Amino acid sequence: MRILLFTGKGGVGKSTVAAGTAALAAAAGLRTLVLSTDAAHSLSDAFDTRVGSDPTEVAERLYVQQVDAQLRFEQSWAEIQGYLLSVLDVAGVDPVAAEELTVIPGAEEVLALLELRLQARSGQWDVIVVDCAPTAETLRLLALPEALGWYMTRVFPVERRIVKTLRPVLSRAAGVPMPEDTVFDAVERLHHELDEVRALLSGPEASVRLVLTPEQVVLAEARRSYTTLSLFGYRVDGVIANRVFPAEGADDWRAGWVVSQDAVMEQVSESFAGLPVWRSVYRPTEPVGVHDLTDLATSVYAGDDPLVAPTGDGPFHVSRSAGGAVLHLALPFVSRADVDLARNGDELVITLRAADPGGGVGSYRRLLTLPAVLARYRTAGARVERGELQVRFEERSEETAT
Ligand SMILES: Nc1ncnc2c1ncn2[C@@H]1O[C@H](COP(=O)(O)OP(=O)(O)OP(=O)(O)O)[C@@H](O)[C@H]1O
Ligand SMILES: [Mg+2]
Repeated sequence: MRILLFTGKGGVGKSTVAAGTAALAAAAGLRTLVLSTDAAHSLSDAFDTRVGSDPTEVAERLYVQQVDAQLRFEQSWAEIQGYLLSVLDVAGVDPVAAEELTVIPGAEEVLALLELRLQARSGQWDVIVVDCAPTAETLRLLALPEALGWYMTRVFPVERRIVKTLRPVLSRAAGVPMPEDTVFDAVERLHHELDEVRALLSGPEASVRLVLTPEQVVLAEARRSYTTLSLFGYRVDGVIANRVFPAEGADDWRAGWVVSQDAVMEQVSESFAGLPVWRSVYRPTEPVGVHDLTDLATSVYAGDDPLVAPTGDGPFHVSRSAGGAVLHLALPFVSRADVDLARNGDELVITLRAADPGGGVGSYRRLLTLPAVLARYRTAGARVERGELQVRFEERSEETAT
């Protein structure tokens, strides 16, 4: 089963290109689902039909689903939220404020992706196309299970046992209610399910496509997404430049745009060297409905197989070296000075300083759980070469082996 995600800055044409790619897949004979986690119902608009929160058939083999993020949120978070609210209540926090405190920004988006897991397990689909939220923020949140991995495997079960035996005593001593078993169950289930979603999205059959329009600010954001997606282990396998002005028969106004878009397209090719850059012309009308969308996608991919399985190592792999191994992580556009590394047991903490869209400097951090082969080695050095972070691992010497 192939999973394709489309992301990019607001309004660049993510939903249109995602829907078109899905329509093309269905036309080629594949059972295709295109799902969106966006509350704006843009897939309904693109297909010009009413789309429900269950897969709705819009053409032969082509189904569209608009995930009800609110509902998914309530199903997965209700138990945990209920407990947090009871604690905040004891602490005297106003119920309305408490409600807000128990909602994590972006959580709805992430929990909506749980639907992807269900659909992927159903065995009903050859292809699932995901129309993502603007930018890569959502996928970043999927790093949460990995970041909590150590806590969830080592600390959480112990805490759970302690609370179970001492619940009445603890509740009295702490003055706040202790979580019931069902709360622990809910946390564990959520952790496990999110981890599965992340595994699906960073797996060998999944890839992300960046949609952009040939404008400087849009390109800047696409480059940042490329870096963060790679940092978190998601494979980017192509770029779609949408709303490219045709040069033929241009008046002065359009000719101006053609020149400035050409200049940005030059930078797009340089930025994403090694990846296919597909072009989609600015159409005279909005591409709406299965026919228009298929037509758009046909010209975008221009004979390339839109579902071709990703090749190569992906953003993360390990290679052997004399007396150790090297961890490779793709970090396009990054220099060594932008990266901070720390070793913490069998985790590698990678912190990336990146210019944020507001012009300031933000940072992204990944707690990467080292594969077993690396965990027993010591970290011996790191460098960044041609957009790739390489961390050297070596056998521990006799003195440090203990
Ligand atoms: N190549 C194109 N030519 C003409 N119109 C286009 C083209 N691509 C997209 N559009 C139109 O541009 C508008 C925005 O496109 P779309 O909804 O796909 O963007 P989006 O990136 O999904 O937006 P959002 O960030 O709001 O989800 C729509 O009205 C769509 O029909
Ligand atoms: Mg959209």
